[in-house]
Amino acid sequence: VTIHRGDYRPPEWQLPDIALDFALGIDETRVTAALSVVRSADAPAPLTLRGDGLTALAVRVDGEGWNDWRMEGPDLVVDLGDRTAAVVEVETAINPAANTQLMGLYASNGMLCTQCEAEGFRRITFHPDRPDVLSRYKVRMEGDKALFPILLSNGNCIEKGESEGGRHWALWEDPWPKPSYLFALVAGDLVVNRDEFVTLSGRKVELGIWVREGDVERTSHAMQALKNSMKWDEQVYGREYDLDLFNIVAVSDFNMGAMENKGLNIFNTRYILADPDTATDLDYDGVEGVVAHEYFHNWSGNRVTCRDWFQLSLKEGFTVFRDQSFSADMGSPAVKRIEDVRLLRAAQFPEDAGPLAHPIRPDSYQEISNFYTATVYNKGAEVIRMMHAMVGAERFRKGTDLYFERHDGEAATCEDFVRAIEDGAGVDLTLFRRWYEQAGTPRVTARIESDEDTGERVLHLAQAVPATPGQPDKAPTLIPLRIKAFDLDGGHGIEEERLVLLDRGEMAVPLGHYRSRPMLSLNRGFSAPVIVDFARAGGELAWLAAHDDDPFARYEALQQLMLDTLVAAVSGETVDHSVVIDAVAQTLGGRAADPAFVAEAVLLPSEAFVGDQMVVVDPDAIRRERLALQAAIGGALEAEWRAILAETPPPAAILSRKAKGGRRLRGVALAYLAATGLPDTPAVAFGIFSDADGMTERQAALATLAHGDSDERVAALDIFYQRYRDNPLVLDKWFQVQAWSLRPDTVDAVRELAGHPDFTLANPNRVRSLYGALTGNQAAFHQADGAGYRLIADLVIALDPKNPQTAARMIPPLGRWKRFDEARQTMMKAELQRILAQPGLSRDVTEQASKSLLG
Ligand code: ARG
Ligand code: ZN
Repeated sequence: VTIHRGDYRPPEWQLPDIALDFALGIDETRVTAALSVVRSADAPAPLTLRGDGLTALAVRVDGEGWNDWRMEGPDLVVDLGDRTAAVVEVETAINPAANTQLMGLYASNGMLCTQCEAEGFRRITFHPDRPDVLSRYKVRMEGDKALFPILLSNGNCIEKGESEGGRHWALWEDPWPKPSYLFALVAGDLVVNRDEFVTLSGRKVELGIWVREGDVERTSHAMQALKNSMKWDEQVYGREYDLDLFNIVAVSDFNMGAMENKGLNIFNTRYILADPDTATDLDYDGVEGVVAHEYFHNWSGNRVTCRDWFQLSLKEGFTVFRDQSFSADMGSPAVKRIEDVRLLRAAQFPEDAGPLAHPIRPDSYQEISNFYTATVYNKGAEVIRMMHAMVGAERFRKGTDLYFERHDGEAATCEDFVRAIEDGAGVDLTLFRRWYEQAGTPRVTARIESDEDTGERVLHLAQAVPATPGQPDKAPTLIPLRIKAFDLDGGHGIEEERLVLLDRGEMAVPLGHYRSRPMLSLNRGFSAPVIVDFARAGGELAWLAAHDDDPFARYEALQQLMLDTLVAAVSGETVDHSVVIDAVAQTLGGRAADPAFVAEAVLLPSEAFVGDQMVVVDPDAIRRERLALQAAIGGALEAEWRAILAETPPPAAILSRKAKGGRRLRGVALAYLAATGLPDTPAVAFGIFSDADGMTERQAALATLAHGDSDERVAALDIFYQRYRDNPLVLDKWFQVQAWSLRPDTVDAVRELAGHPDFTLANPNRVRSLYGALTGNQAAFHQADGAGYRLIADLVIALDPKNPQTAARMIPPLGRWKRFDEARQTMMKAELQRILAQPGLSRDVTEQASKSLLG
């Protein structure tokens, strides 16, 4: 069944209050839900309560047994006659231990926890389970005190006590009306890291991060990130926290990153736990970013929620923009922007160019879980960022203030947000709204011409949005481009950066008078999420890479230079590596001032990104030419790389910008040095691996060794495994580096690792660390005999019956068949067909595989 955005109808019943009673057990939990319902429709209407795998054990209305109900498929329909209000009570029983989907109430390591977004609440009890039905919740939970010493839910704990048979109970109340997807419950044997935060208006908030015994030492970074986020949201958006208690619980088995349940965020352990011995600097940044993201949802998501799931980007795009801005403020804005753009290009551009392309506000879906995408999240964030860029920080804040004021306590739409920015900031976003309607990455073509009559240099811009499935014809949109022209010849061109609003198909922008062609820096800071085609004159990119005053633009110029060189080489042209080598050498010269930026800037574009530039992707040629360029840079600048590696690394416990940047650059240096194949490089890498006082250096050395064929490789993998076999998050890295390996036998290695005693399909992190890493390894996944495709299809088929959500996330790489040669196309489609032929396939996998096959 396909759900359409245009079919939205307001709910016929409101549920102002809900009382839930849980009798907790790992194998059986009994749930009694008392829903106070009030009719909002004019005429009598049956009350439809959605269910998923539930049976009603008893139904009562206003305290009396009730027979006027029936099952309609998985749903419970209660006929309330002409009543306009009632209390409907329903009893259900669920088995958390058997819940391998990790949606609803499930067991993880003996603890009970929930995940309700988007439609998991209906796996706990019958309910409308749509985000525009908001209720005040009262939750009573009771269970065995030894098994579940800690009992948590949303809001405040207002009462607790002991009961017979070693049981105890707690009563929680959340004063803020919320949709069912924000409900949460946790019961288990947990320990807490406690702290407190005093809000701007003086409210004292108790903070708690709950983890398993032994993990509490690894929660201090998350706690600091939480306090920083609370402060930042007050300073930058004027948003204060609104309860006396804020709890976070870390869970090992989790489908996604984390969940913003009101007052009780539930996290994947990988975004909470960090210490220098087990977490890399990137892991630390991930913890900070996700803690902030979930905290920021308290306003952008919870206080103002979504009317329906088509509006998902309302909360996700905005909240990603907020967490990106926060991380930029906590660290280096330039490096953060580079990382965000790299992620957008790696995950969102391919999605926008493939069979699963959809606008940030989709028009239809079969399974909403399939729409928690890079498009909704990351392109959604870019759309918010463009509005911010067009009106400036101050007016943007006026717009968001108005948004929160207008819609507090409501379920809103993307349109509501745009209108609030228009009204608050005083801007007309009529044309800009196309970003919400149209899928596909716009292409901007640029060229500079000299005007014969006036002698002026004119920038000619043209835009085109490509056709995507279901959207053959596109209209021009509003594209904000930050540009700056550098005059090398003392003319009178513009010296200041300016913002060009490309608001039509074609446009001419006068640049001023220049004696020679100016150096044009275009789409600075990646002000618009577009692809720019700009025919550059020779030497321009090298000049910009060295001299542009926008660090992102410097990075971009060097990347483009590398990309041009690689694409030419892959197309069979003889290329001169020296231009790239010189530019890298020049950039390395600035490493003392900003090692983190330099590390990002000198990294070669990924194999996948090179593939994205080609008409037909040739994974083997890309691998070959990229390794050749890497080896050339490695060899030509060998002395530089060795000098960097000879320095004493900053102690792992120091997380300053400079220390993190220094470690990052050492990782890059080691990779370049190893690419030369010089005989001592395995020993150098093994030395770093052994001497490392933290995970950043240790993992970088291990990953480098994993590409090769040395005895040191075998030794390091073994040492790492023995040391960390009991730490699941670190063991994930051990699987991951092997699946990322550039060795020719990686697909076989992955197949073998899937049979390793520590591998399990039950844990999504473990699945991603092995199979997700393989799909990110272009030449391995696209191995010419199709073994990579087979492996992924086998995984999808095996995982779907247990965990359809995570299974469906493995399909998009198989859906990119159009980009490859015929032999690969045939094999990829055959695997999609094989998946679709499985009996009893989930809605999640069916939607992704059938759309992918259509192309
Ligand atoms: N709202 C969560 C976040 O952005 C993601 C939850 C997604 N859950 C799901 N089942 N798709 O942090
Ligand atoms: Zn989110």
